[in-house]
Amino acid sequence: MASTDSSGISFTAYYTGEVWRQHGLSSEAFNTTQGKTLYYLGQPFEKFARAVAGFSTQTTLLQRHHMIDEVVRKAITEQGVTQIVEIACGLSPRGVRFCQEFPDLHYLEADLPAMLAHKERLLAENGLLTANHRVVGINILEESTHDALAVVFQRELDPTRKTLVITEGLINYFDYQTISIFWRNLAQVLKQFPAGAYVTDLYPNFQWHPMNRLISTFIHGLAFATKSSVTLHFKSQQAIVDGFSQLGFAKTTVHIPEAYYGVLPIPTQRMASLVRVVENWV
Ligand SMILES: C[S@@+](CC[C@H](N)C(=O)[O-])C[C@H]1O[C@@H](n2cnc3c(N)ncnc32)[C@H](O)[C@@H]1O
Repeated sequence: MASTDSSGISFTAYYTGEVWRQHGLSSEAFNTTQGKTLYYLGQPFEKFARAVAGFSTQTTLLQRHHMIDEVVRKAITEQGVTQIVEIACGLSPRGVRFCQEFPDLHYLEADLPAMLAHKERLLAENGLLTANHRVVGINILEESTHDALAVVFQRELDPTRKTLVITEGLINYFDYQTISIFWRNLAQVLKQFPAGAYVTDLYPNFQWHPMNRLISTFIHGLAFATKSSVTLHFKSQQAIVDGFSQLGFAKTTVHIPEAYYGVLPIPTQRMASLVRVVENWV
């Protein structure tokens, strides 16, 4: 049986958590030593990338985070979503921000046990856990254990609420064969709600991109550091739409950063953007 331990990825959540905090998107609750250490260690590489390419990993991290926020906010205000599950939440501050903005929202933050325990402690110490804002273990690679997606959804969620699932910074750590099993399961479980949506960021395999060679090198380093199978998914925008349709989603919209330049407070870049935010409804 394939291993379901992908906890080697977890440390990267401290880096992104600190990027959000440094850019005013987070809460002091998520001020961690691990985050600050990784952030300052990464600064020389970030500066080098910005000087050479005009953008860095921070650019795409901020673009994706703002865009996901926007798509989720619209799903709440325009589509009536009242229940959210953020899988692989890491130190995402989104649950805190959205629960403050929408007091009736039910928000479930999910991650692997060690990361989840740290998140739960930070939330609890800062008085941020409530009956509506909770944490739970989910391992997307499990299929029938206590932490499996369908088992957790059955146990923890209100089936009468319109429900939206978020993953951010997760799916490119897995090869297509592995992540597509999760995606299919997710499309299935979302069908039990009056409306079901899935919003994720995604780094596609755009071979035309001028940074393609540099990105391949970065991917090899990241795969080594996280002991994972970092993979870019889908070769075109149409392939993303077709792919999610084949996985059981009824409607897919691909959001690109350029469409939000000047609209959201996201960093811009001269070169074509690398990250996409995919919004799927079942
Ligand atoms: C790159 S971090 C992303 C965290 C946060 N969403 C962000 O954007 O910073 C990846 C997260 O995925 C979690 N993770 C890794 N493998 C997982 C799995 N099999 N199931 C659920 N979460 C997983 C890690 O613990 C970590 O919090």
